[in-house]
Amino acid sequence: MVQTYRQLRLDLSAALAEFLDPSEAHAESIRWFEEGLNLSRSWMAAHGGELAPGSARRQVSAWVRRRKTGEPWAYILGWCLFRDRRFQVTRDTLIPRPETDLLVEAALEVGKRLRVERCVDVGTGSGIIAVSLALESGWQVSATDLSPGALVVARRNAADLGARVAFLEGNLLDPVPDPLGLVVANLPYVDPADEPTLQRELAFEPASALFAPDRGLALSVALLTTARVRQAPACLLEIGAGQGGELCRRALGLGWGKALVHQDFVGHDRILVALV
Ligand SMILES: C[S@@+](CC[C@H](N)C(=O)[O-])C[C@H]1O[C@@H](n2cnc3c(N)ncnc32)[C@H](O)[C@@H]1O
Repeated sequence: MVQTYRQLRLDLSAALAEFLDPSEAHAESIRWFEEGLNLSRSWMAAHGGELAPGSARRQVSAWVRRRKTGEPWAYILGWCLFRDRRFQVTRDTLIPRPETDLLVEAALEVGKRLRVERCVDVGTGSGIIAVSLALESGWQVSATDLSPGALVVARRNAADLGARVAFLEGNLLDPVPDPLGLVVANLPYVDPADEPTLQRELAFEPASALFAPDRGLALSVALLTTARVRQAPACLLEIGAGQGGELCRRALGLGWGKALVHQDFVGHDRILVALV
């Protein structure tokens, strides 16, 4: 069938709207053209009336078949943007979330104020936090993860983006020698009891990157505990909506001098900053 690029995009949007809400389907169709087919909005405005080759149509159909199963676009594409840099992602890594940008911003601000020289990203996944901090701060950065598969991806991202990060396999801060410097982490914080209510896309991400015992709090508390014992000057965590109050109390109980919570774009608790 003969089809223009514009028609192909409209058909894509309609196909996606069979399982996404219409505004999401429209936004995804534009994203697929930009990121997957490398056809920008301005290119489409000028050339959308040209005939789309069969290869583009077949590619889009194959992507729709995968997306229909719930597979997130970032896994289909194989990469995702974070702070305007392209990070590879695989089924071994969490897909970077926009909220994590707030954690990087807070870490840069606190680290500069405390004049730290080093920092550790705990639970690095695809390496977005460690790589961003290494490229934007001048600090000596190390990063840990329990998942060997995630560390392969993180090392590749650091190499591709020219960032110097020491990646270490192991539990929380165990593989990192003292002195620690700033401790930053986006560890799993989803309550396992919430699993049945979550978006079906999350089933494609590693459970070990999402869920933590004790209503999602266990890893955050464990990290606040070891970071305090090992005399880190600050510990910054991405946290779940509604976890701020309890984690502040637990941090103060563990001997941190100050604990503050920052909210995200929609007003949910998102970043905990614990200071000595
Ligand atoms: C929520 S993902 C975050 C990944 C990445 N930092 C990001 O922001 O996209 C959590 C990561 O923590 C890792 N992880 C889970 N438990 C851990 C532990 N006890 N020690 C170190 N890493 C852990 C998981 O393998 C996963 O890569």
